[in-house]
Amino acid sequence: MQPSTRSTTRQWQGIIAHYGARMQIRRDVTPVTLLEGNTPLIPAPRLAEALGGGFELFLKYEGLNPTGSFKDRGMTAAITQAVAEGAQAVICASTGNTAASAAAYAARAGLKCIVLVPEGKIALGKLAGALSYGAEVLAIEGNFDDGLRLVRAASEHVPIAVVNSINPARLQGQKTAAFEICDALGEAPDWLCLPVGNAGNITAYWMGFTEYYNDGIIQRRPHLLGAQAEGAAPIVREHVVEKPETIATAIRIGNPARWQEAKQALTESKGRATAVSDEEILEWQAKIARLEGVFVEPACAAGIAAIAKGRREGWLNIEEQRVVSIMTGHGLKDPDAALKKAPQPRTIPASLDALLEALIR
Ligand code: F0G
Repeated sequence: MQPSTRSTTRQWQGIIAHYGARMQIRRDVTPVTLLEGNTPLIPAPRLAEALGGGFELFLKYEGLNPTGSFKDRGMTAAITQAVAEGAQAVICASTGNTAASAAAYAARAGLKCIVLVPEGKIALGKLAGALSYGAEVLAIEGNFDDGLRLVRAASEHVPIAVVNSINPARLQGQKTAAFEICDALGEAPDWLCLPVGNAGNITAYWMGFTEYYNDGIIQRRPHLLGAQAEGAAPIVREHVVEKPETIATAIRIGNPARWQEAKQALTESKGRATAVSDEEILEWQAKIARLEGVFVEPACAAGIAAIAKGRREGWLNIEEQRVVSIMTGHGLKDPDAALKKAPQPRTIPASLDALLEALIR
């Protein structure tokens, strides 16, 4: 065997190669993969202190997936399934990350990809990704919920595979993040906290934990803490939000497709959903970066802001417990949002005097 071949086969091969036996998807074709998954579970002691301390906190950095978000787990599964079923084209509605991920995996499989995004409400890095990977991007004069409605309707008229999380293969891929957390910790955490938009991901995590629990691999399942933005909190408010608004455009969703499943997961886990303000989101986004060196997009900070809120209001008891918070997307996806809280760079002349003066100031 050539040394190069050997090193290739030793590297991580993606979630289907690793967890495929636990995934209910077609496996009679070669997986369409960018070697997604196997993301780090980073201890965050300084952030835990800023949240009041007395508990153990980990960040699951899903922004390190190939296209910069957790969507790649679902997309390797959905696109592999689409190829197995003979699809020629795929479509999705998206607040941005799903669009970029679908575009990348479709490119890899040689499929046509069409994405519907809300005009003017998609972060720059996501748009740049979707366009670069060669998707046809349709900016609709409406929000994500309008887009998903249109995608569902269109798929009844033309032969095209829908790769939103209403596609069961998506959840089969995304549940592997729960497996990775349990495999890394040797047990489920006490709490799992994550941002909730269309509610596919919280549904997938609960599925993953439940499967490991039923197979005796873990002895308990975590409580789920689902975070929504105040202006887009249908699950918390228990009604559809017609015009969702938030700086965290990833979760700017008013009528989640997996609403009932998310509700059931929250109830079964004896967890809780809560809404946090855009101000809190930006504040914690900056703290995650400054205290731990982990740069995430605003939606991710909703989870951490929810912990802060729960402790402040006294309904979240995590003393001595282990908490995992999911950092669903990379900070570079949304530079505009990040710069809202960041100080401006200081301009100085290119001279040693000026530099020395800047250093002592
Ligand atoms: N975090 C990020 C960074 C997201 O992009 C999303 C969803 C979520 C959290 C919420 O996950 O929808 O499964 O509850 N983004 C979708 C998209 C809607 O189109 O990229 P969810």
